[in-house]
Amino acid sequence: MSKSSALTNWHPASWQSRPAAQQPRYADKIALERAIASLGKLPPLVVSWEIEALRAKLAAAQRGEQFLLQGGDCAESFEDCESDKIAKRLKILLQMSLVLLQGLKKPVIRVGRFAGQYAKPRSTETETRDGVSLPCYRGDNVNRPGFSRAEREPDPELLLRGYERAALTLNFVRALIDGGFADLHHPEYWDLGFLRHSPLGDAYQKIVDSIAESLDFFESMSGQRVHSASRVDFYTSHEGLHLFSEQAQTRYIERQKRWYNLSTHMPWVGMRTADLDGAHVEYFRGIANPIGVKVGAAMSTERLQELVQVLNPQNLPGRLTLIHRFGVKDIEQRLPEMIRAVRATGSQVLWVCDPMHGNTETTAAGVKTRRFENILAEVETSFRIHAECGSIMGGVHIELTEEDVTECIGGARGLAEADLARAYKSPVDPRLNGEQALELAMRIAERAGASRRTKRMKL
Ligand code: PEP
Ligand code: CO
Repeated sequence: MSKSSALTNWHPASWQSRPAAQQPRYADKIALERAIASLGKLPPLVVSWEIEALRAKLAAAQRGEQFLLQGGDCAESFEDCESDKIAKRLKILLQMSLVLLQGLKKPVIRVGRFAGQYAKPRSTETETRDGVSLPCYRGDNVNRPGFSRAEREPDPELLLRGYERAALTLNFVRALIDGGFADLHHPEYWDLGFLRHSPLGDAYQKIVDSIAESLDFFESMSGQRVHSASRVDFYTSHEGLHLFSEQAQTRYIERQKRWYNLSTHMPWVGMRTADLDGAHVEYFRGIANPIGVKVGAAMSTERLQELVQVLNPQNLPGRLTLIHRFGVKDIEQRLPEMIRAVRATGSQVLWVCDPMHGNTETTAAGVKTRRFENILAEVETSFRIHAECGSIMGGVHIELTEEDVTECIGGARGLAEADLARAYKSPVDPRLNGEQALELAMRIAERAGASRRTKRMKL
């Protein structure tokens, strides 16, 4: 059987006949080919049965039985591939997932925006400073953030460096998890110092204690240890933007009789590259991974319907996650029609809210920021709209960092515009710091608790 017989005219390189947006321009094409050929020979970072396990969980989230927490940096940097930073990032995601588990009373699927989130779409090709124009920074897989010609020149060797760092990151995360770091019996392992002095400290401790007591109660009653609480699953995701490198890591799995992108469990198509006739949609339609698609205000309902059909023609459960990112201003108007449009196709999808990318604003001083209150309001509005439309809001997609940055305004500590200058580190989008990220999870959990109580009272 031909390897492309299951899909009409698809091959890992078939995207090359379509217009590919957001690709770097490499001066040395031979060097690019060499780097891609080397990448194609390296062993995969993930395997197909992990990918299939994630797909089954995402299918459960579609039915409202699980909840997706997808989070991490806007752009990972090679420099941040350090043990301390990776462990702290994992801790934040584990803490958030613990809070969500307790509040939503359903398993949380943890998917990091990490181990490969090294390529960024940009709104312009070049950046100009003091009359000098250079190519934009497109992520560490492509070039470097410093403003010199040498740093901004796309370098194909960086793709190999990125692959190695993704492997190092994932190796460490896997070892931590296998070693018991993510054991729900020991959430104290994930203590991140800041909570001791945080306005959220007590509330978080109460959640930890209540989980510990529930586990204790269940284990004493059943006389058995809850082993499933000793080890959690962790998955990776990144924007599948740089198509030559995604292609190089796409392999045919004989046993499954399908092609998989084995560089990550769940790649997503960004908003700027979701053109129906473009190269990204062509590439994504052929891989068997569960995939995400960002859905923004620029997308029409008809376009979304076409995308859903092209990307999941067999209507496989768990295959397609729609990550809407309208912003608090537009969600009220745009989300209901999108939900109705997708329902009309008969396609099953997982709806996830990204409350970050539609809420970016620039201060009078020219600093890119996001307001915690808008982020929270978009999540809350999203839960409400899905419920009103008889749909399920099955997860959140968050940009966050373990570092104590001041990039987003607001939160329990009341960060103000004047604080942004103090610790603004992101070369791209503003991220929630650890405390703000945890606060967001707590507010989601509180809301879920309150709506359960209201439902019980109505019974
Ligand atoms: C991102 O997730 O970092 C991003 C660029 O998002 P979007 O494609 O939704 O703008
Ligand atoms: Co971003």
